[in-house]
Amino acid sequence: MSFSLLRKIFPTNSYLGVDIGTTSIKVVELAKKKGLPLLKSYGFLESYGHLERLNNAIQTSTLKMLEQETAGLLVAIIKQIDAGTKSAIASLPAFSAFTTLLELPLMSEGDTAQAMSFQAKQYIPLPMASVTIDWMKVGERKDEETGEMKQQVLLISVPNEIIRKYKTIFKNAGLNLVALEIEGISTARVLTPRTDKNILIVDIGSRSTAISIARNGLLKFSGQTDFAGGSLTQTVASGLNIRVRRAEDLKKKRGLTGVGGEYELSTLMMPMLDVIISEVKRVKNNFENNYKESVESVILAGGGANLMGIEQYFSGQLGLPVSRANPFSEVEYPNEIGPFVKELGPEFVVALGLGIKAF
Ligand SMILES: Nc1ncnc2c1ncn2[C@@H]1O[C@H](COP(=O)(O)OP(=O)(O)OP(=O)(O)O)[C@@H](O)[C@H]1O
Ligand SMILES: [Mg+2]
Repeated sequence: MSFSLLRKIFPTNSYLGVDIGTTSIKVVELAKKKGLPLLKSYGFLESYGHLERLNNAIQTSTLKMLEQETAGLLVAIIKQIDAGTKSAIASLPAFSAFTTLLELPLMSEGDTAQAMSFQAKQYIPLPMASVTIDWMKVGERKDEETGEMKQQVLLISVPNEIIRKYKTIFKNAGLNLVALEIEGISTARVLTPRTDKNILIVDIGSRSTAISIARNGLLKFSGQTDFAGGSLTQTVASGLNIRVRRAEDLKKKRGLTGVGGEYELSTLMMPMLDVIISEVKRVKNNFENNYKESVESVILAGGGANLMGIEQYFSGQLGLPVSRANPFSEVEYPNEIGPFVKELGPEFVVALGLGIKAF
């Protein structure tokens, strides 16, 4: 069974891409158009409560998502953007899913399906009855030792309980959930559709950082850490002995580029960034060692990508070219939002990646 509820048939003209993060919900509405899909509207709601009380996030990486409240937030945001459709495509956070990249000999799709159902039992750390499994072919590689061609297949499993929660939330919000996928897949679709090189994507959110390796629009490898934007704010708050809300403002305003008196900000944040970077390196090394392919460049996504100076810092630490995500390049958008696209881009990666799935 697949948790991509609807794979190919998208009957209506416009769709909502819905990204429910740990502290915010982002929604875009995309409509079919000749050429690129058209962005009709976008909106987001942020729960500021999380800055005051740590347990007040929309969901935590243990996924105790508050169904009723989340549905309420969704209703509010749908109203705010005056959405013209009820059909929604949503993402599951990286920490809710288990993915693994398997290499199999080249064979027919039917045989691959059969092989995968055997393989799944071996690789999935939970009882088979409690998870929903999906898989997709994401590439091919020639084995240097044997000279044999292999296909790379991404195996994904998600606890049924999580899928049930999402279905309930969307139903309660009066929306029709037509597809559900893990966020790394949406990210890969919108950030790497035209590159044949492996790209490392680091999505620094509020409570979690999702790390993905993708190519040709397809997710190949992923990892995750709970150190993220919120951790940076925390270190600033405790280091300067100021309130979290004030630390958040300082972080956003000054970033790593402050000089003189602000020098301390970067000194405070760099050790935390190094924690995130060491996790990124671990994922990268795992991928490169296991699959004998290398990563060529890095794209930063999530609100954390807007931290001033972060590109240079990551580039120095990783020794690779680093850029900020620009998912708006895959859609057509009204002129009025042109000036905001650069800053909104990293935060809307997942929502836009979901929205373009339909077209
Ligand atoms: N200009 C900025 N400079 C530094 N950090 C920023 C900036 N803008 C936003 N952030 C940080 O980005 C984070 C929010 O990012 P995002 O909206 O991607 O998170 P989320 O999707 O809700 O969370 P998650 O992905 O963890 O579920 C917050 O920690 C916020 O402080
Ligand atoms: Mg996010």
